[in-house]
Formats: sequence, C-alpha cells, structure tokens
Amino acid sequence: MDLGIRGRTAIVCASSQGLGRGCAQALAEAGVILVINGRNRTLLEQSAAEIRHATGTAVTPVVADVSSVEGQAALLQACPAPDILINNNGGPPLRNFLDLDRKALLDGVTMNMVTPIELIQKVIQSMVARGFGRIVNVTSVSVKMPLAGLDLSSGARAGLTAFVAGVARTVADKNVTINNLLPGSFDTARLRGSLSSAAKRSLVSEEEAAARAMANIPAKRFGTPAEFGQVCAFLCSVHAGFITGQNILLDGGAYPAAF
Ligand SMILES: NC(=O)c1ccc[n+]([C@@H]2O[C@H](COP(=O)([O-])OP(=O)(O)OC[C@H]3O[C@@H](n4cnc5c(N)ncnc54)[C@H](OP(=O)(O)O)[C@@H]3O)[C@@H](O)[C@H]2O)c1
Repeated sequence: MDLGIRGRTAIVCASSQGLGRGCAQALAEAGVILVINGRNRTLLEQSAAEIRHATGTAVTPVVADVSSVEGQAALLQACPAPDILINNNGGPPLRNFLDLDRKALLDGVTMNMVTPIELIQKVIQSMVARGFGRIVNVTSVSVKMPLAGLDLSSGARAGLTAFVAGVARTVADKNVTINNLLPGSFDTARLRGSLSSAAKRSLVSEEEAAARAMANIPAKRFGTPAEFGQVCAFLCSVHAGFITGQNILLDGGAYPAAF
C-alpha cells in the first residue's frame, strides 16, 4: 500500500534501537525524510547509516537527551516544522512505588508526560497551518493494565493519554491527528533487560524466563519492532486521517478484555 507520505518529514524520538527504530525504519520505507535520535552516538549513527542504506532515504541523526530542553531544541533545529512527530523515550526503571522520592517521581513524569507534550506544543501549529500533521505517542499497555513496579511509567503515560485526548479534538478538522500506540511485550533491549532480571529473581535461565513470558501471551510470542513500526507508519499515512485520539493496543491478545 502506498502510504501517501513520500517526501514528508518526521522527527522520531528515541529511535536508535527498539520500537522507535522500528517506527523510523517503516517511515523511511514509505519515503519519509527522517530525524532520528538517541544519546549514544555510535549506536545512533550506525542506525542512521543502516536505514539510509536500506531505503535510500535522507536520515539525520541528532544525538540528544529528548527529555532535556537542549535536546528538544537540537531536534527542532534539525527539523523545525515536521509533518510527523513520533514521541518515544526511555521509561523509568522498575521500582517499588514506596522507593520513589520526589526527584524520581518528577523525572518519570518529565520523561513520559511532559516531554511529549512539550514537543507537541512546538510542532502542532505548523502542522495546523499546513493542513497535515501526524503525531504518534508510544505509551504502554500499562496505561490500561497495571504492571508491578511500573506505577510511575503507567501514571505518567496515563496523564499524557488524558492530556492529548482533548488536544486531539481541537486539531482534527485541520487534518492533524494524535494517537497513542500501546505496546505489550516487544522483543527489544529493554524487554531483554527485564527478562534477565526476572530470570535472576526466579533462578532460571533467560530462555526459560522468555518462554514463561511468551506462554502468557495468546499469540505465544513477543512482538517485533518491525511490526510495531508498520502500524505506526500506517497511522502517519494519508489513509489514517479519520483516526484520532485513539489508544491502539499491540499486544498479541495479552490484554484480556473485549474493550
Ligand atoms: N519493549 C516493550 O515490550 C515495551 C512495552 C511497553 C512499553 N515500552 C516502552 O516503549 C519505549 C521504547 O521501549 P524499547 O523497548 O524500544 O526500548 P529500548 O530497546 O531500550 O530502546 C530505547 C531507545 O530510546 C533511546 N533513548 C532512551 N532514553 C532516551 C533519551 N532520554 N533521549 C533520547 N533517546 C533515548 C535509546 O537510545 P540511548 O539509550 O542511546 O539514548 C534507544 O534508542 C519505552 O518507553 C518503553 O518503556 C516498551
């Protein structure tokens, strides 16, 4: 399917690997000119080179912490008025909520709520003026379903979800959409890190920990960054202009409810 976005521009935050990289790759395949981002220069430049090589698309790597004011300024300097914004970031570490002091709480909210809102504020007016804009926020299944130790991530992302639900309706008539993608378990470095900790806690191998986790997913497997990216690219396409303010779960059926 031609997504109709060839030649459009996108900022894809936190995209040197994992889900962000999957989104960048799929947008590049659709002909979108990219700014990609991460803090580790080597990894980021390698990803930019691979995406360029695979798709022939222009890819500008911006080494920056997306949560910082300076990092956001660097991204916007590279692409001041993107047609597409993919909000992604790291998540707070797994932690008992009783152990979170004020700084940890505010850092988590900054990462997963304030940062995406700030970036939306900075790009949305030019999208409205052009009559085209696609914003996708990577959130989590934890917005709908509690996950032990991820209360801060869940709370901050739920805050973002509620915030953009209203904003999305104010720009829908200008062909600017805002949607959230809710990943379940995707095979990324972050998931492998959690599995490694789970394996140590349960005194089993990492393979066994992965097998146990997959057994709890109706699809009996983890998702791939590539399939996540393709859904993201579709939401950014010309065909998805009537989808806005939605929370789209990608979890192989793990969330056990009809709605
Ligand atoms: N994988 C899953 O199953 C899953 C499930 C639910 C929610 N999520 C959420 O989805 C998001 C992406 O997860 P993932 O699994 O793709 O993680 P990942 O494989 O660890 O990749 C994270 C990417 O973000 C970059 N990054 C992290 N912090 C950054 C920052 N402050 N500024 C700029 N770039 C930053 C990393 O590069 P650098 O480290 O070099 O900066 C890397 O490119 C996270 O918020 C995660 O909590 C993931």
